[in-house]
Amino acid sequence: MVRNWIEELSKYADDHTSSEGDLLRELERKTYLSALSPQMLSGKLQGRLLSMLSKLVQPNFVLDIGTFTGYSCISLLDGFGEDGLMYTIDVNDDYEHIRSEFFNRHPKRGQIKQLLGNAIDIIPTLDVEAWDIVFIDANKQAYLDYYQLVKNKIRKGGLLIVDNVLWSGKVLDSNKDLDTKIIDDLNKLIVNEGLFETVLMPVRDGISISIKK
Ligand SMILES: C[S@@+](CC[C@H](N)C(=O)[O-])C[C@H]1O[C@@H](n2cnc3c(N)ncnc32)[C@H](O)[C@@H]1O
Repeated sequence: MVRNWIEELSKYADDHTSSEGDLLRELERKTYLSALSPQMLSGKLQGRLLSMLSKLVQPNFVLDIGTFTGYSCISLLDGFGEDGLMYTIDVNDDYEHIRSEFFNRHPKRGQIKQLLGNAIDIIPTLDVEAWDIVFIDANKQAYLDYYQLVKNKIRKGGLLIVDNVLWSGKVLDSNKDLDTKIIDDLNKLIVNEGLFETVLMPVRDGISISIKK
């Protein structure tokens, strides 16, 4: 029998990562019971990574592109002091009841601004001088557009974090579909353009972490 190393190692990594806490555990359970594509949720390992990055940066302004049920948003709140502001955007209100329920139970609920609409229309209207952290996790075909909209507004030393950068391994295909091509183009642009120092990690579906030079 061929051993499924990826599944076994993912479970080992989860089991040896600090707890995400009751609220996020409950949010994950509720998302898996109620949402159509629950696997879109960041999950424990990636959520703890986002939380750790937020604690290191101690951000004042975070942009979370693609709220879904709120998992990445809540994870990124962990490094906030009293002045931090989280802007989280989603075009879809199907899961508004779930994210609002869990945001309302979070002690930093007053620091979350939920925005409903297309991120491409909303981002240019946001009155924020510089982002400390931007997390891109919405429409894959708009990844290059999100990048163009935020790249000059991330402060020096700030973080750009992009999810699904390996796209189930399809970035290796010679004949790429459109989503894959755009993700691959963005991965290449970020590393070649020279604005950021980047590490692309094979965590979950691939996550790249870039620090602004
Ligand atoms: C992968 S999920 C986000 C998961 C979330 N970040 C988490 O960690 O649980 C992608 C989300 O992006 C949203 N989305 C798709 N296109 C969008 C757009 N043009 N503008 C804003 N949100 C969009 C979808 O509705 C979906 O909820």
